[in-house]
Amino acid sequence: MCGIVGILGTEPVATRLVDALKRLEYRGYDSAGVATLEAGRLDRRRAEGKLQNLEARLSDAPLQGHTGIGHTRWATHGAPTETNAHPHMTEQVSVVHNGIIENFRELREELTGEGAAFATETDTEVIAHLITRELKAGHDPVRAVFNTLRRLEGAFALAIIFGGYDDLMIAARQGSPLAIGFGEGEMYLGSDAIALAPFTDTISYLEDGDWAVITRDGLAVRNREGKAVERPVQKSVASALLVDKGNHRHFMAKEIHEQPEVISHTLANYVDFAAGRVQLPDLPFDFADLPRLTISACGTAAYAGLVAKYWFERYARLHVEIDIASEFRYREAPLEPGGLALFVSQSGETADTLAALRYCREQEQHTVSIVNVRESTIARESHAMLPTLAGPEIGVASTKAFTCQLTVLACLAIAAGKARGHVSESQEAELIAALTEVPRHISSILRDEARYEVLAHPLAKARDVLYLGRGISFPLALEGALKLKEISYIHAEGYAAGELKHGPIALIDETVPVIVIAPRDNLFDKTVSNMQEVAARDGRIVLVTDAHEGEAGCPVMDTIRVPTAHAFTNPLIYAVPVQLIAYHTAVLMGTDVDQPRNLAKSVTVE
Ligand code: AGP
Repeated sequence: MCGIVGILGTEPVATRLVDALKRLEYRGYDSAGVATLEAGRLDRRRAEGKLQNLEARLSDAPLQGHTGIGHTRWATHGAPTETNAHPHMTEQVSVVHNGIIENFRELREELTGEGAAFATETDTEVIAHLITRELKAGHDPVRAVFNTLRRLEGAFALAIIFGGYDDLMIAARQGSPLAIGFGEGEMYLGSDAIALAPFTDTISYLEDGDWAVITRDGLAVRNREGKAVERPVQKSVASALLVDKGNHRHFMAKEIHEQPEVISHTLANYVDFAAGRVQLPDLPFDFADLPRLTISACGTAAYAGLVAKYWFERYARLHVEIDIASEFRYREAPLEPGGLALFVSQSGETADTLAALRYCREQEQHTVSIVNVRESTIARESHAMLPTLAGPEIGVASTKAFTCQLTVLACLAIAAGKARGHVSESQEAELIAALTEVPRHISSILRDEARYEVLAHPLAKARDVLYLGRGISFPLALEGALKLKEISYIHAEGYAAGELKHGPIALIDETVPVIVIAPRDNLFDKTVSNMQEVAARDGRIVLVTDAHEGEAGCPVMDTIRVPTAHAFTNPLIYAVPVQLIAYHTAVLMGTDVDQPRNLAKSVTVE
């Protein structure tokens, strides 16, 4: 997804624009550019590929303007070339854009018909031409932008500067987030607070449909209808520390290793360790009255939700329906008013999850979001928000956010079980004690990391990898397969082990590694049978288990031993081996682990 920055500065801004864009690299991009205003004239530098290429352009031909915008582009319309890189501009206006203008083709035809000359294949360029047309019709920049916004359909965020207007930047938010920062005689704009952290922690967030007229004295926010609105000014929680990898080679490695700390941090937010009790913030419903629970999310967050389904049904006897948000948002599922709908999202900006949330609000559900970004749209549009305290997750592949989501969901399931009379106080204390041990168990797995570098060699040679799990380990099989495929580009599938005979066993031969997630729980023996079926066909098994040597009852290529823990917490513990398997295989394959090809950290478009 693209990154947007803007500065109304008191000194040349080009270098700071690039520094701010570096803090947005985690969003994934394939070209970048900046534009500034100098003596009333707009000028820009752009480059394909990584930001160092843009820095080279700027060092060859510096920009001195004190007003500027910048952009990292994740190509949607038009190849990732310098020509298609933002900012897009005419003599009168320069624009950077995140999102998709769904009606750009008809707008382009309209403008071309009036003589506008297009230099790129992008949807963004129509915005520059539309605003220019309004300016040429005699409108001032504010009116020109207002008229233009009314023509645009789709989800987008914009930052715009104008030739001859040194103290003006206009921003618009329609679906993709935008943060505005307040400085000393300066103003800032970014796709999120992370980009602005080195400049300010005093932030305002635009709401959907807002657009802001920004000068060095402050800002005036208007809504879709052009009516003035107030948005709260708050202290951002984004830390300036996030962009270093510490002593790790990749953000993903750092974030895998942060899990003991951030799980503890998250747990402490929801548990009274002394009393051995869950302590949740006030929620606008009583678990005892809920007819059902609906969970909707995407990707890894959806797998966290699937783990939670097992917990809520087992410990709270609460019927749970879970569906991936891209399907749920269009299904028109019949929901009884007064139900609870849970939305899990690291970014809190995922378009499909947000749409599912809005559907559930229309269906009079209580909506609760579990997010890693408190100020995100999903958080703000939910009736209640439960934060994961994972800290900013930079690697595109979600790791620490996943285990922190599980931590919050586990606490929620315990609270639901208690409220519905199925979890006694002593059982609550037992489950919390188990959760409290998770950081220690994960630390012990991380101490054994070198063995995953060895295991990566046979896996890196595979064309296909199958992950199997039963019961609450089935979502871990799905998550393990997603982790491997998204960062190593090896095809991997997660399957319920009991489904093996219903098709996937046809895949098995000596070329297919089979990763079996099998804690020594009540389903272990069933999974051993599946492993024997795989072994009988020369499948190469990697067994991830806390069972003792020889309990597998069949030859395995490798065994990853994990600590024995309470069955309730196995999903959090077994998440780490599947993360490390994926990470070390991808490192061996030389892929871009933190920013895998074609992927973005937050998918804010459909
Ligand atoms: C997970 O590793 C992927 N990056 C992706 O599946 C992600 O979980 C999904 O896009 C949901 O993102 P969210 O948690 O920000 O909503």
